[in-house]
Amino acid sequence: MAEQKATNITWHGGAIGRADREKLLGQKGATVWFTGLSGSGKSTIAVAAEAELLKRGRLAYVLDGDNVRHGLNKNLGFSPEDRTENIRRIGEVAKLFTESGVLVFTSFISPYRADRDSARELFEAGDFLEVYIEADVETCEGRDPKGLYKKARAGEIPEFTGISAPYEEPEKPELVVPTQSQTVEESVAQVVAFLEEKGYLDAPKG
Ligand code: ADX
Repeated sequence: MAEQKATNITWHGGAIGRADREKLLGQKGATVWFTGLSGSGKSTIAVAAEAELLKRGRLAYVLDGDNVRHGLNKNLGFSPEDRTENIRRIGEVAKLFTESGVLVFTSFISPYRADRDSARELFEAGDFLEVYIEADVETCEGRDPKGLYKKARAGEIPEFTGISAPYEEPEKPELVVPTQSQTVEESVAQVVAFLEEKGYLDAPKG
């Protein structure tokens, strides 16, 4: 848990509720938390799913590890402590987006089960969907889209997930996307169909 430093702060509610925004958008806000190794397909699927939802008139937004580490989290590295803080901040940001009614796709390795569970705890039931983008190290290393596995094997990147740092598989994810055995299009269709089936692409009733 991060320490609360500020005192004399008061939470201000708005005049507009979450359901008002969700009705406007014709959907339910949620955080779709992608987890998986580097090169497993998280960002590729997140970006394509975001585009597919926009095509269907829904508002989605991708929060991506590499991108967020250019700004909000530029002061964090890849030690276990820094990864924990990375995920903590992203959990909080994703929660704010979810409150705004947006469907958020987070694309972070998020290798530690405890960190993902802490993120989940920030949310109401049903607002946080853990999606395991599943591909084993050999497959991801074979893809190596950024050449990072090669560098990690050469000892040029310390604490590289899957090589010299751990990845803890989800135990009970809401969805598993097996990217070794299906195409990107199939994976995107699987994620979007899941959201549709569970009612996230409909406005709240009432
Ligand atoms: S996380 O472990 O803290 O969730 P995050 O998803 O933000 O990681 O960032 C992972 C991305 O950073 C990878 O896709 C890769 O491009 C880059 N990266 C650089 N160094 C490392 C490292 N040591 N381990 C894993 N990813 C790294």
